[in-house]
Amino acid sequence: MNRQGRPTRSERVAADGGGTFTGNRALDMEEALIFEIGRADATGVDVDEPTAFQSRLGPHGRTCELDLPGLTEPEAVRHYVRLSRNNYSIDAGTYPLGSCTMKHNPRLGEKIARLPGFADAHPLQPVSTAQGALAVIEQLADALMTMTGMSAIAMPPKAGAHGELCGMMAIKAAIEARGEAEARRFVLVPDSAHGTNPATAALIGLSVRPVPAGADGTVSAAAVRSVLAPDVAAIMLTNPNTCGLFEREIAGVAEAVHEAGAYFYCDGANFNAIVGKTRPGDLGVDAMHINLHKTFSTPHGGGGPGAGPVALSERLAPYAPVPFVRREGEALRVVEHAAGSASFGRMCAFHGQMGMFVRALSFILSHGADGLRQASEDAVLSANYVRACLKDVMTAPFGDRPCMHEALFDDRWLKDTGVTTLDFAKAMIDEGYHPMTVYFPLIVHGAMLIEPTESESKASLDLFIMALRDLAFSVKAGDTERFVSAPSLAPRRRLDETRAARQPVLRWTPPTSD
Ligand SMILES: Cc1ncc(COP(=O)(O)O)c(C=O)c1O
Repeated sequence: MNRQGRPTRSERVAADGGGTFTGNRALDMEEALIFEIGRADATGVDVDEPTAFQSRLGPHGRTCELDLPGLTEPEAVRHYVRLSRNNYSIDAGTYPLGSCTMKHNPRLGEKIARLPGFADAHPLQPVSTAQGALAVIEQLADALMTMTGMSAIAMPPKAGAHGELCGMMAIKAAIEARGEAEARRFVLVPDSAHGTNPATAALIGLSVRPVPAGADGTVSAAAVRSVLAPDVAAIMLTNPNTCGLFEREIAGVAEAVHEAGAYFYCDGANFNAIVGKTRPGDLGVDAMHINLHKTFSTPHGGGGPGAGPVALSERLAPYAPVPFVRREGEALRVVEHAAGSASFGRMCAFHGQMGMFVRALSFILSHGADGLRQASEDAVLSANYVRACLKDVMTAPFGDRPCMHEALFDDRWLKDTGVTTLDFAKAMIDEGYHPMTVYFPLIVHGAMLIEPTESESKASLDLFIMALRDLAFSVKAGDTERFVSAPSLAPRRRLDETRAARQPVLRWTPPTSD
């Protein structure tokens, strides 16, 4: 045990190693923490000790050893390669995580993003030397305006949730400009919404008023009218919604909201299902974020922060944040100051996430208008294929209605089997799949949300479907052992997620000597 009472590497190997001396199981290799294998005297680099060296740190200089784990170069390479093999990725296999849109990141985008003019661009370099990079921002904003049918795009937000904050800050600024800040304190949020929607409303000091979803999983204009009042600032509605359904009454919802003097914020996380098919601006949307990582295939995390540009209607455009790029004749300029304008101000240090912009624009230009439309159609087709092939063995909460880009199942079919949604998801790990999203949306009991995306071939979809059918048949045959003990073939067994969340161990402490 180490000082925190956690097992050391050799104890973990003994417990988890599956009977081998090393803890390795063929290609599944056991890897210790770098602190457990590192030695202070090992190094992969050979740097001369400085000779004429005078510290200017005075009393602030370090007086003890840093105690960093040293590794030789091959040890360092192996350490990180082995760790990377314990990670599931879209490059390793189907990743059907609903709502998260884990789709292939085309290598073209990766290649373009690594060109020195883009990869080395610095936000503080003189604007005259960054005209190419600014042209990417301008072209991407133009393309997003065309696809959304909206008047302006705020490029700085760094993620979908950050985009929500940006859009809602623009709405709040517009309401303040009308002198109604005190009167309009509520945001309508359907109970099927992603948690970031109510969190955003609360973060800007507004209160949430829920809108119940109908029995068909969508929000009706009548339900919205029933909770609309002069104290409402906005509605935040996701379309297609978190149940994977198109909000059929969205135009009526927009009309009702506008009649009440409020604004319509659309959560555009699921824009990937409708690009080229319908334009949110035509549906009456005032503000909508676009998760570039979901719709235009930029990597999730890993490569740095993401990007969640926000499309704004003509009414909200004047309140967009700074900085933004403006064309003046041949030259592109960065407008940095909000003074004298209606802009709500600045929400990020600079104008956005260049690496994501380059990848998203590469995706857009390489697909073209027809290709983007086909990507949406294929994403919807894939989800409906999965839905149709599983509907006889699993239960769907909203009947046989076709879905958009994700297929949703509930847990009625697991009733009295001794197997839960979580057990089923864990068993998928043993089959080599990342589980689907589970227990979300909250309005569906034991939800299983599958988003196959347009990236999967029919062959890989068929294999995925057959694996799920096989699992479903095992449930029905009463083979609960396959589920309650799952995952049994992964490098680690089922973790105590509650303990991991409540008592995270974020620091390594050396083992005790006894
Ligand atoms: C419907 C919905 N809204 C908002 C978000 C938040 O987006 P992000 O994770 O980029 O902050 C997500 C992310 O999964 C989402 O699915």
